[in-house]
This record gives sequence, structure tokens and C-alpha cells, in this order.
Amino acid sequence: MSRLVIVSNRVAMPNEHRAGGLAVAMRAALKEHGGMWFGWSGKRTKDASGTLHTTENGNTTYCTMDLSVEDFDHYYNGFANRTLWPLLHFRLDLVDYRRDTQDGYRRVNALFAEKLAAQLREDDIVWVHDYHMIPLAQRLRELGVGNRIGFFLHVPMPSSDLLAALPNHEVLFSSLASYDLVGFQTERDLDRFQSYVRLYIGGKAFSDGRMRTADGREFRAAVFPISIDTEHIARQAKAASTRASVQRLRESLGARVLTIGVDRLDYSKGLPDRFRAFEHFLDRYPDLHGQITYLQLAPVSRSEVPEYQALRRELEGLAGHINGRHASPDWTPLRYVNRDFSHGVLTGFYRSADIGLVTPLRDGMNLVAKEFVASQDPETPGVLVLSRFAGAAAEMKEALIVNPYDLDGVADALAQAHAMPATERKERWNALLKRLRRYDITLWRHKFLEALSG
Ligand code: G6P
Repeated sequence: MSRLVIVSNRVAMPNEHRAGGLAVAMRAALKEHGGMWFGWSGKRTKDASGTLHTTENGNTTYCTMDLSVEDFDHYYNGFANRTLWPLLHFRLDLVDYRRDTQDGYRRVNALFAEKLAAQLREDDIVWVHDYHMIPLAQRLRELGVGNRIGFFLHVPMPSSDLLAALPNHEVLFSSLASYDLVGFQTERDLDRFQSYVRLYIGGKAFSDGRMRTADGREFRAAVFPISIDTEHIARQAKAASTRASVQRLRESLGARVLTIGVDRLDYSKGLPDRFRAFEHFLDRYPDLHGQITYLQLAPVSRSEVPEYQALRRELEGLAGHINGRHASPDWTPLRYVNRDFSHGVLTGFYRSADIGLVTPLRDGMNLVAKEFVASQDPETPGVLVLSRFAGAAAEMKEALIVNPYDLDGVADALAQAHAMPATERKERWNALLKRLRRYDITLWRHKFLEALSG
């Protein structure tokens, strides 16, 4: 069997216990095939980028590269997270384009390619993840790498007219043709990419998934909706019920219904709109005052990026405003928490909740929606309120699907979830869980790697 080489900006080292579901799945894939995980070391140095660190763990090598302060700033804080991230999440208004950060992104990708090429064996299969690394295969090809290389985009692929707003977009997005296989989360992402290739780079998309660029390069593109380790999460959630932090949360609620949201503090997650929708709910359903608590966990993310700092300030203002208007001495309607919790504790929180509120303005998939469902107690399952703009909505039709821009609609969905009879909750939940059991993260990675090897 060929070795597997995974490439992603973040590498979850073997001693990292807080690793999320995807990291665990990648480790499992590496264990199965043997191979390497390659990416950024998490370190910023004063010296030039490029120092490598290698750790062996069983049949897997972890190889990570330091970045200089300036490279990191241009590549990660700059082009990846101030240009590509908002663009890919349909937020042209937040795109900050600069030539120097674009150059930095290219430079860092070229350096990753150079260092990786030196480590590759002839029959290694290479699987590259996410928007930080779009041009990687092209650089590897220039260095003579002929291995199979696949790419999976975890985030949305926006409409072609939005992509075209990026200066030099053709250079960046046509570099995807250097991969053998490009994977997307949903059919709509694939459709939009195919339109882009037709409309803006003069290429062709065939019905069997093959694509061809104007200069004759052929590659394949297909849909692989990412999922979770459903059985593991169900077990973890059950076990977490006895943990002190989960019990304390339950005790603090008394008889109140718990609505929970868990999101990185990111503008794509629609948190200000969600807070406002909750305020509409409080305004429109005064009878429910005192009966419902909304807990929003929002661990701080990308805190050096100005748009994220502005979002944090906005949410602090909104949370204070909502509680100031609606709280009573013995009831805080909104509990807003920036602290991060371990994955195990989170599943315990999900299980304690009656309503899961997942209302991103755009999201590649959204695994919180899936984990919320997998964590529920089969006797008393909670209700999922899910944005139609999360990739997960394509598969999770039995959730209460909402438009996150329609604040009254979200408020009504909360009231509907609150009033939903037990039989309906169970029916919806059973249907959701059945699909998650069938299509879990192991099947996801097998399908991708099968398509890449085939
Ligand atoms: C999203 C992206 C990932 C990224 C994660 C955390 O899920 O798709 O590539 O790793 O956010 O963001 P961070 O910037 O902290 O890596």
C-alpha cells in the first residue's frame, strides 16, 4: 500500500489532546496507510522561514515548518484570512486585497512545496487540505513531482462572479488543475466551480466529473461531504454527562430549556444576527421569558486579524444590550462565553441542550450541526435549528431549516423547537442520526482516497 501524505496549515501533533474530529480522522488515516503529516509548526521565528521539525509516532512522521514573522503575517493573517477567507464566504465587503500578502502566500506555498518535495517517495499519495494551500500542487509539479495529489476544500466555493473580483484570480484558481482530484463539500460548491472554470478560464466540465482547462490540463472534481465519527461522539457525549463541568451547567439551569450555539468567533458564523434573532425571540414571546437560556460558546479565533477584533467588540456590545434589556435578577437570557472547552466536554454540553442553534451566513459544512445530533440522548433528543447556508443543510433536511438573515424566522424556529412534541423530535432526530451513522468520517476519507487512487 502507498504511504499517505497529508498536508494542511495546522498539524495536530500526536501529543495534542484537544484535537478536533478532523484531526482524529487524519491520524486514523495515517495509521492505516503509514505516512506523513506536513504543515506549519505553529512557530513564528525572527529568522527566515523553512526550519523543519520532525517527530516520529508509530508509522507516522509529523514534519512541520517554521515561518518567519513576516511570512506568517502575509500568508496566514494576510492573504489566507483577510482575502481568501472572506471571498470564499461570499463577503466581498470584507475582502482586503494586497499585492504583498498575495506574494507572501505564493512564497510560503512555494517553500512548503520545496520542503515537501524533498521528503516524498515515488508512490506516496498526497492529500492537501483547504484554502491555505491552493497553489501547492502546481509548485510541486514544477519541481517534478509526479505523485497523485488530491485537494479538499473545507470551505465554500462561491459564485464565479465573486471569485472574479479577486485580482489575478485566474492564476490562483486555475492552479487547482495541477491536482488529480479536487473535492468539494456540496453539489452546489462543485457547480459553482464548474461554472467558474467555464466562464472565467475558458475550460470545460464534463458530466463524468472530468474537467479540462483551456491549456489542456485534465483533472477531476467531485463532491465528498465531510462528516463526523458518529459512534465515537455518541459514546463520548454519554460518558461526558458525568463530568463536573457538564453537571454544573445542568444544575445552573434548573428547569430551564437550554439552547446552545458553539462557533469559532468568526463573522461567517452569523453570530451578531443570531444574537439579534434571539432578541426578536425575547420580544415576540414574552411568555417564554425565564424559561429558556441561550448559551453561546465562541472561542476567540484569528485574533490578530482586524475584522475578527471588530466582531468581538460588536458581540460584546450586543450581549450586554440583550441581557441589560431582558435579564431579571434571577435569569440571564444569554450566556456568552469566549473560553474554549475540550471536545469531550462540548459533546456533554450538546447532550444537555434541548435546542442546537447553528445559523452561519455561510459555512463549508459545519460539523457542530452533525455533532449536536450525534450527542443527543435517544430518549430526549434535542432539536437542531440549522441555516440553509451551511453545507450540512443539504443533508440534514429534518432539522428546522432557517434563513439566518430572516431574524423573525429564526425567532419563530426557536419557538417551534421549544414547543415541539416529543414524538416529532424523535422522528426528526432518528432520520438525522441514521444518515450520520451511514455516512461518517471514515467513509468520507475512504471515498476521497479511493477516488484519488483510482
Ligand atoms: C476552518 C478552516 C480550517 C481551519 C479552522 C480553524 O474550519 O476550514 O482550515 O483550520 O477553521 O481556523 P485556524 O485559522 O485557527 O486554523
